[in-house]
Amino acid sequence: MGENISFEHVDIVSPEGKLLVKDLNFEVKRGTNVMVTGPNGVGKSSLFRIIGELWPLHSGVLTKPAKEEILFVPQKPYLVLGTLRDQVIYPHSHADMKKLGVTDEDLDALLAIVDPARNITTEWTWDTVKDWFHAFSGGQKQRIAMCRLFYHRPAFAILDECTSAVSDEVEGIIYETCRRMGITIFTVSHRPTLAKYHDIILRFEGNTRWSTKMIDSRAEIERDRREKALVRDASNAKLSTATSSSTSSSSSTQSNDVNANSGNAQVEEAQDDEEEDESQDSQQQQQQHHGKKKKKHGKRG
Ligand SMILES: Nc1ncnc2c1ncn2[C@@H]1O[C@H](COP(=O)(O)OP(=O)(O)O)[C@@H](O)[C@H]1O
Ligand SMILES: [Mg+2]
Repeated sequence: MGENISFEHVDIVSPEGKLLVKDLNFEVKRGTNVMVTGPNGVGKSSLFRIIGELWPLHSGVLTKPAKEEILFVPQKPYLVLGTLRDQVIYPHSHADMKKLGVTDEDLDALLAIVDPARNITTEWTWDTVKDWFHAFSGGQKQRIAMCRLFYHRPAFAILDECTSAVSDEVEGIIYETCRRMGITIFTVSHRPTLAKYHDIILRFEGNTRWSTKMIDSRAEIERDRREKALVRDASNAKLSTATSSSTSSSSSTQSNDVNANSGNAQVEEAQDDEEEDESQDSQQQQQQHHGKKKKKHGKRG
């Protein structure tokens, strides 16, 4: 057992005996966020299977803290039979939660971090029992998984492509919250936009090779913020030029174009969020989801 997660001369070998990564020497230190990248099938999730002891260690030494200090957050979270509360506090029981002095209001606050519109708690109470696998949308499942992470606050969180169904904005909030809570993250992702929340990139190159790269995460976040502000300013400027010159007929067309474009951008953003949210759901689940929406409106009306 150790303070950090470290690999010394570790080979990652698949159950079929294929050498995926050779002689990995790397340490994930507390407070230093690491992102694992590389093409599909290169062995990223396998690294986590070794940490979780799903796959045996063939060679080298793996040092890690106690089990309770590491929480795995897979792409599709494990959901249990029981109440909405049980989904968040798993593997704790309601009695464990009360013993810790945690209340349902505390859970409300934790879930609101990743579900600011409070869609989940508007639709169900903490005591609701459901077939959660079918009741939740893809995005809701990932939000619940994040709420579970905030509830347990482990020293290390291992995130395997687990924010694919939430918007960039919610993703940012998740990473900021982990930093605030002192949770060190070890992320698998091929989304370059996530690099800014990490301090080191561990890249699996394929052909069993690996490399590392340091990131100045604070500088990256600041640069990203400035770039977004520039884009916003530019589109605002475009919009105001277009509006002020909309008196002549030719520029009126231009004005419409610009307005149409900015309108489209908004629609696209909204759709993107919805699409991402639903991306992992079957059509049947989507229908259920829309059915639920209807019911909700019915209740209100
Ligand atoms: N349970 C398994 N049994 C045998 N081979 C597996 C198993 N899971 C993954 N693999 C193989 O191991 C390789 C690495 O997989 P994985 O680590 O999941 O890739 P990724 O980098 O996309 O996360 C792939 O070639 C995959 O086919
Ligand atoms: Mg994977």
